[in-house]
Amino acid sequence: MCGIVGFTGKHQAAPILLDGLSRLEYRGYDSAGIAIRDGEKETEVIKAKGRLKILAEKTDHGASVPGTCGIGHTRWATHGEPSTANAHPHRSDDGNVTAVHNGIIENYQELKEKLLRKGYVFHSSTDTEVAVKLVDYYYKKYEGTPVDAINHAMVRIRGSYALALMFKDYPEEIFAARKDSPMILGTENGESYIASDVPAILKYTRNVYYIGNMEMARVKKGEITFYNLDGEEIEKQSRVIEWDAEAAEKAGYEHFMMKEIHEQPKAVEDTLNSVLQDGSLNLEEMGFTEEIINNISCIYIVACGSAWHVGMTAQYVIEDMAGIPVRVEVASEFRYRKPLLDKNGLVIIISQSGETADSLAALREAKEKGVRTLAVVNVVGSSIAREADHVFYTLAGPEISVATTKAYSTQLMASYILAIQFAFAKKHITEEQYKDYIQELETIPGKIKRILEDKERLQWFAAKQVNARDVFFIGRGIDYAVSLEGSLKMKEISYIHSEAYPAGELKHGTISLIENGTLVIGVLTQPELFEKTVSNMVECKSRGAYLMGLTGFGNYNIEDTVDFTVYIPGTDPHFTASLAVVPLQLLGYYVSVARGLDVDKPRNLAKSVTVE
Ligand code: F6R
Repeated sequence: MCGIVGFTGKHQAAPILLDGLSRLEYRGYDSAGIAIRDGEKETEVIKAKGRLKILAEKTDHGASVPGTCGIGHTRWATHGEPSTANAHPHRSDDGNVTAVHNGIIENYQELKEKLLRKGYVFHSSTDTEVAVKLVDYYYKKYEGTPVDAINHAMVRIRGSYALALMFKDYPEEIFAARKDSPMILGTENGESYIASDVPAILKYTRNVYYIGNMEMARVKKGEITFYNLDGEEIEKQSRVIEWDAEAAEKAGYEHFMMKEIHEQPKAVEDTLNSVLQDGSLNLEEMGFTEEIINNISCIYIVACGSAWHVGMTAQYVIEDMAGIPVRVEVASEFRYRKPLLDKNGLVIIISQSGETADSLAALREAKEKGVRTLAVVNVVGSSIAREADHVFYTLAGPEISVATTKAYSTQLMASYILAIQFAFAKKHITEEQYKDYIQELETIPGKIKRILEDKERLQWFAAKQVNARDVFFIGRGIDYAVSLEGSLKMKEISYIHSEAYPAGELKHGTISLIENGTLVIGVLTQPELFEKTVSNMVECKSRGAYLMGLTGFGNYNIEDTVDFTVYIPGTDPHFTASLAVVPLQLLGYYVSVARGLDVDKPRNLAKSVTVE
């Protein structure tokens, strides 16, 4: 949700900011802007509605705005429509304070009224302009430093923010503040960088600092000082980011999504290898001893979107394999429903970004209730990773496409690993079963590769679905969980209405939507449920549906029922989601491409949802 960058150093700032923003554009893309300061001269602000390339053209790719210090922003609208006036940076009328912001200021109306009474005038409908003017107000009122002004504003602001600010009296410097919105800072060779996310600055530095909640930073060329809310200096250690810059490039693929689909075998393998030692799994490094595992009475999995779909699969796998009761919840519901949590339970938060606002709030809710928490997170050092008691890092590397693929697959792998290890510790499976399951996990990357080798068939099929109005995905058990993800992949990037249903539930209402030619995709990877789902597909066919079946090699009799079949390699039924999801990712991708849509940046979406 909105991307921010900042730079102060020896080089020209504008091209660096535009480059950084291009790597953050997945966070929001309805408008963009930069503010550049050339020595003591006035800060110049340039903004444009629409994609970043319009801003790049407007500034001759940065060449027309000289200066070695600046801040930039790519916007995902919350307060106020996408427009040049609402685009960031915003500044106080006398140019004293200029800022970019990611997050939501909940009490902006109340603060705006206060500032209006003080004579401030507003030119946009954004909450950010209020924050800028509030900082300006305190700066002038107390005649202190920028840090004093910012911390006075921070105490008054409710909501979330990552702010990067420039002050007229402090040329070549940027100030930053953060609460619940992501922000990292880095230094290299006498230059300094600020960004919402790692890919924006990876090309320039891998030494980053994580600024904590309610902390501030003063950023000079090659030097960053951190402050707490009382304005006292605090020490921070830099961390080295292992991701390399190439991982955040398209590497010859037309879209990040396709590249990331192809990175799945490696991502899944890396995630497994991170805990695999001599044929056994070792979770001790993340703090899970046998004693801790044995004390877990139940599991609550909390997440949003695709990560929640992973939770749905994990529920089936963990309950069946480890015999531990599992409840799965959407984070935005969990946080407000006053959940009754068992003190010996384990709350697992699944999140690629580690910054999803609702998931973070759910984590805090669980911690407040004294329940042990585990984060399954991809982004190292993200808020959820830092605040959870235990962290399982998925090794997907940077995921740029808004629609998740490889992060989802690594989260599935992490869930299997937890299920197997918990099952073994609780003596729910024998040592032989334990070894067999692990060996089966090791075959999954190769099997994903095989599915990818046959992608052209799906491309051909997808081309026929370009004009579909509705698509239904049905399945039972784990196949239902896969259907949820297949359906989301389809609708979020192709804008074709789709729904996922437990196969047996369709006839309780939704089947009335089936018309001649409506595409129904049945997922049938669970041997025990195969015939049941086939019957449900037949029910749809009798109402005119056009059927696609997704099942394991060998189930060839499905062809008697369906119009088009996709086969996947066999695996243990617990792990089929890892294979079945791949053709559905490809299907969504190819339909989106065939419809001429922007696959990596679907409308209205943002990669990291850091607002409620
Ligand atoms: C869909 C998608 C989203 C995310 C969701 C959670 O393709 O990517 O549904 O899964 O927004 O995001 P994270 O995992 O970052 O918490």
